[in-house]
Order: sequence, then C-alpha cells, then structure tokens
Amino acid sequence: MKKIGIYNNKGGVAKTTSIINLAYAFAKRGKRILVVDCDCQENCFSFFFSDKSTKEIFDTEYDNISHTTWDKFNSVKETSIINEYDYILFDLPPALSDEVKLIIKYLDAVYVPTMLGEFEIQGLKKVTDEINHQGTKLGGIFVTMFQAKNDKELIEDFRRILQNRLMKSVIPYSTTVRESQKSGLPIEAYFIERNVPNIGTAWKIVNAYEALADEIIKEVEA
Ligand SMILES: Nc1ncnc2c1ncn2[C@@H]1O[C@H](COP(=O)(O)OP(=O)(O)O)[C@@H](O)[C@H]1O
Ligand SMILES: [Mg+2]
Repeated sequence: MKKIGIYNNKGGVAKTTSIINLAYAFAKRGKRILVVDCDCQENCFSFFFSDKSTKEIFDTEYDNISHTTWDKFNSVKETSIINEYDYILFDLPPALSDEVKLIIKYLDAVYVPTMLGEFEIQGLKKVTDEINHQGTKLGGIFVTMFQAKNDKELIEDFRRILQNRLMKSVIPYSTTVRESQKSGLPIEAYFIERNVPNIGTAWKIVNAYEALADEIIKEVEA
C-alpha cells in the first residue's frame, strides 16, 4: 500500500481534478484505490459521494474506488483496513498549516500539480522545500491546464529550472473538465456515457491522465 498526496499550496491548480481522474485511471489498471479528501471544502468527497450510510469508508459508483475524508480516515488509519488498498490518494487543501504538514509527513510521496507562470515557479520552491523538510519524497511536479498556443515557451523555462523534477506527462486545458464535473463523472466515464469516440483531440486529456498514472505507478513500484 502506498500513500500518495496531490498537493500545492496554491488553489485552483487542478488538485481535486487530478485526484478524481487519476483514481479512475489507477482503478482501470486494477489497482484498489482509497481517495481521502483532506480539504474542508470537500469537493472530492461530494464528487464521489453516493452512499449515505454512516461509516468510515464509503463505496463509490466505480469498482475499485472507495473514498472518505481525512477526519474519518483518522479513525481507521491504524487498522488493517488500509491494507485493502494498493494506493491511498490524498487530496490536500491549498494551505501550509500544521495539519497539512502532518499529512505530508505521513505520506510516501507527494505529486505537485502546477500551472505555468512566473508566480507559479516562485511558489513551487516553498512547496518542494516543505515536502523535503517533512522527509517525504517529491514524486514530481506536473503541468496542468496547458495551452499549447500560449504556454510553449513557458514550459521550456519550467523544464530548464525544474529539470527531472518536472514529469513527462502534461495535462492539457480542456473545456470537458468542467462539463464532466457538472455531470459528476470522471472525464473518461463522461466520454463513455456520451459515446464520444476515442479519436481526435477530445480524449487528449484522458490519455494525459492515463500517462500520468503510468508514470506514477512506474516510479512508485520501481
Ligand atoms: N485540464 C483542465 N482544463 C480545464 N479546466 C480545468 C482543468 N483542470 C481543472 N480545471 C478546472 O479548474 C478549476 C480548479 O480545479 P480544481 O481541481 O478544483 O483545483 P484545486 O483542487 O487545485 O483547487 C475547476 O473549475 C476545474 O473544473
Ligand atoms: Mg480542491
């Protein structure tokens, strides 16, 4: 069992979106996933919520994906229940509070989504320093909401500065993200439901999240 966090102290960089679509991609690869929403906004918890029973860990509509909140997870984290999962994915809040530091310390690896820009590159130093400070592995930094038209040069700057800490997978900007979230579905499930054929650009973002899942699995299981 591996405990993996998706974290950036900046909000709106696709932490929750990445957790949802990575969980789906991991589950598709036969991995048993528990998603833990650590953000009091509970976007992730509400997204997966379908089971009204009162317990610590909840089923979702997807095989191999269960979910909970950090508070509920705390009451089972010392039990054997957590060994039922291959990966526990933690959706962290955009903060650097003492609680966030404790969660980071508890994790095996942290992956950092970022958008491209000068403020973003400045902010990343604080994030990666804190992950190091907690003795947790920085799995990698990945670019989200990439727009080829504007971002081509910026990504080269990022690669030069971050070098091998920048992951190969790049998540493109896609209007489908908001549509799928409005329907309460991971992007691939949304395309399947709508019979969108896997050709052309629409599926680019699904393929990107799949590639990111493979990149993470390869690194974590190496
Ligand atoms: N690849 C993407 N393309 C377009 N919009 C995106 C993409 N990823 C996320 N978004 C949108 O950006 C907003 C912030 O994403 P979210 O996952 O909530 O970020 P965070 O959890 O880091 O605050 C949401 O409205 C989401 O729908
Ligand atoms: Mg979020």
